[in-house]
Amino acid sequence: MTTKYTIISGTNRKGANSYLLGSIYRNLLAAKNIEADLIDLEKLPPDFLFTALYDNANKDEVFNSYQSLINNSDKFIFIIPEYNGSFPGVLKAFIDGLDYPSSFKHKKAALVGHSAGTQGSALALSHLTDIFNYLGMHVYAMKPRLLHIEKHLNKEGELSQNYLDLLREQVDGFVRF
Ligand SMILES: Cc1cc2nc3c(=O)[nH]c(=O)nc-3n(C[C@H](O)[C@H](O)[C@H](O)COP(=O)(O)O)c2cc1C
Repeated sequence: MTTKYTIISGTNRKGANSYLLGSIYRNLLAAKNIEADLIDLEKLPPDFLFTALYDNANKDEVFNSYQSLINNSDKFIFIIPEYNGSFPGVLKAFIDGLDYPSSFKHKKAALVGHSAGTQGSALALSHLTDIFNYLGMHVYAMKPRLLHIEKHLNKEGELSQNYLDLLREQVDGFVRF
């Protein structure tokens, strides 16, 4: 059976670097003849916190379509911006809205961090690794940290050669993981 890949842009911020990086990652996979869906958290229903979580689980059709995509995926790539020393709250709310434990159990994830500052989302990647391991998902050990991202990525979605090489190295390993 073919392995199904899904990339998740980890913020709902409009015009996000995460989405640009997710598109670049999708092209890197395509170069290996691997198709991937790209989930943009910006497209989540704006009120999903109140229509899709807890007692409202499975009641929001748009959120349900994301749940189906997650259910049908085997490998995930999470693009993670550093927000206040961690990952964006909307990503945690998204994860909290997904079925537990079936959504991620025994599946595999690759994480890519990026930030304006010098950390490249290091702590965020660490926090998320703990969460995914708790959920039973295996996290690929090489986690690129794209620090000072604004010096390496322009609004046309062109990434510096150094950072492209890092992503390619991760892709090469992750497809074999
Ligand atoms: C709410 C918020 C919090 C941020 N906090 C940090 C931070 O703690 N450290 C840092 O280096 N950059 C921080 N940044 C900058 C982002 O990490 C950086 O610009 C990133 O590429 C933005 O990703 P995005 O365009 O996908 O939202 C923050 C940006 C936002 C919007």
